[in-house]
Amino acid sequence: MIEQTERVMSSAYMHWAKTHLQARFNLASSGLEPFPLAKLPVKIDNLELTGPSLYGYEPLQKALANKCGVSPNCVVAATGTSMANHLAMAATLKPGDEVLIEQPAYELLISTAQYLGAEVKRFTRSFENGFRLDPNEVARVASTRTRLIVLTNLHNPSSALVQNETLKRLGKIAREVGARVLVDEVYLDALFDDAPPTAFHLGEEFIVTNSLTKIYGLSGLRCGWILAEPALAKKLWRLNDLFGVNPAHAAERLSCIALEHLDEIAANARRLLETNRRLLNAFFNSRDDLDWMSLEFGTVVFPRLKKGSVEALSALLSKKYDTSIVPGKFFGMPQHFRIGIGNETAMLAEGLARLGKALFDIKARPYPRSSRVGHSLSHRSPAKRERRGQGRSRRESSR
Ligand SMILES: Cc1ncc(COP(=O)(O)O)c(C=O)c1O
Repeated sequence: MIEQTERVMSSAYMHWAKTHLQARFNLASSGLEPFPLAKLPVKIDNLELTGPSLYGYEPLQKALANKCGVSPNCVVAATGTSMANHLAMAATLKPGDEVLIEQPAYELLISTAQYLGAEVKRFTRSFENGFRLDPNEVARVASTRTRLIVLTNLHNPSSALVQNETLKRLGKIAREVGARVLVDEVYLDALFDDAPPTAFHLGEEFIVTNSLTKIYGLSGLRCGWILAEPALAKKLWRLNDLFGVNPAHAAERLSCIALEHLDEIAANARRLLETNRRLLNAFFNSRDDLDWMSLEFGTVVFPRLKKGSVEALSALLSKKYDTSIVPGKFFGMPQHFRIGIGNETAMLAEGLARLGKALFDIKARPYPRSSRVGHSLSHRSPAKRERRGQGRSRRESSR
């Protein structure tokens, strides 16, 4: 199916996010609560405003290469994963080229490809299948015009993990049609010590984007990067020349310090997410008005409202309960909504309590027939049902 091909000049989702994430009980953010500067061991002498960082600040290049287990000439620094994705797409797509993007997907991936004039086609990751990525579905949609296959790992909005075997099959599909695979790994570090190595190691056709923004609560540093084979990395650096001269050097220095202390920052994040996941799963266990999958890792879940309108739920939450969720319409699945669990535990607990109240309120309301879900899953996680039925590995099925 060919989607909209006209050039877009804005992102409806990003605009919504920037104007709706201010609720007191924020269940909409996908990242960890901000890590405070005061907790980083920084002295003023460690900082400088201007430095030698025209094609990368060497200490940061080395620190990122070391973190990812790659050579520094494969690392291209970028302003967050956002710019990393933009550069990766702009370097690999010409107007009219075909790009395959997962469905549901982080909306910026689609709007960026459309802005670049690419023709966007989608491959489905279905809720019923635990949002598992099915390479056969990608192969079905791929054509000789495909230049890029785009996915997130962990998946935004479901946190589903894509196994290496699946990634390798995507690499093979890409090679056969002369395309590359772009893997946005901004949520992968949420697996902490259990995180698999970056997909970059799977072959030259892989391009990986990432940043310190989500799992480490360091969004303010805008420390992002692209991993690409050296020739493409050079092309990316040259393309980046079109967007500016040099990054904010103080942020590069702070990023180096954060990377030196990443284990401690990760330990805090891990503790918070483990506690919050228990809270979220207990909340889901108490509900019969949602179809859901328990969260075993990651920062976001994407439950489905069995009856009623998610738009109405979101509006009610915002107006009456000062609480935000992300409506599923931004992921092309309007009966779902996304909950993020990266905020302080007390805030999450109160946000979930308010979500429960709002769900009760809308249940008491009449709702239009058209907003009923066609069929309803059992309360049990589709991932778990599938695990029993098909013996999939625990990791891939749980998201
Ligand atoms: C999949 C994905 N990629 C990229 C981003 C943006 O990341 P950054 O803040 O590092 O630019 C987001 C933000 O939500 C995201 O979900």
